[in-house]
Amino acid sequence: MKLQFITSNMHKFNEISAYLKESGIECQWVKRTYEEIQAETTEEVSVDSARKLSGEISQKFFLEDTGLYIQSLKGFPGPYSSYVFKTIGNQGILDLLLNKERAAYFLTVISYFNGKEILTFSGKEQGTISMEERGRTGFGYDPIFIPSGCEKTLGEMSIGEKNKHSHRIKALENFIDSVEIED
Ligand code: IMP
Repeated sequence: MKLQFITSNMHKFNEISAYLKESGIECQWVKRTYEEIQAETTEEVSVDSARKLSGEISQKFFLEDTGLYIQSLKGFPGPYSSYVFKTIGNQGILDLLLNKERAAYFLTVISYFNGKEILTFSGKEQGTISMEERGRTGFGYDPIFIPSGCEKTLGEMSIGEKNKHSHRIKALENFIDSVEIED
């Protein structure tokens, strides 16, 4: 099986293709940007992007959208994760959490266009926000996120280690399990 993954993010592609390779699935990187709506859920953003792209791409493809949800901030930044990262960044999140509970989770929603319709698959990773930025691997919020049961942040992990815990890989597992049934 060969899957087309649309993303402009090299890190997302590297994580997903490393996992798929181990499962014997070839992943083709369709490196392009696309417009994302601002919505109130990560799922809406993911599905809307896939719907728009399905108007111009007739082959099967998938894409994903991810958000960081911090419980004591009522889920913020959630679907606003991209904007918040670009504006206040990791240090801004650490500042917001002074004297607050640090539980958080990542949510990834994969949208797969099978040539006819869009199917969605989610993956969640529970953890806590660290006290300071740690590590230089990965991207985005990785240096401030410690998966449950770990001591290292995702920014201190190799791709292989991150993939053992990752929201993205949980969504991917749900996806490839279903696609095998479907194909
Ligand atoms: P998007 O899915 O590319 O829209 O991501 C939203 C924001 O979350 C961006 O700032 C990303 O850098 C960040 N992000 C997405 N996935 C991850 C991840 O696996 N680890 C850390 N940050 C992430």
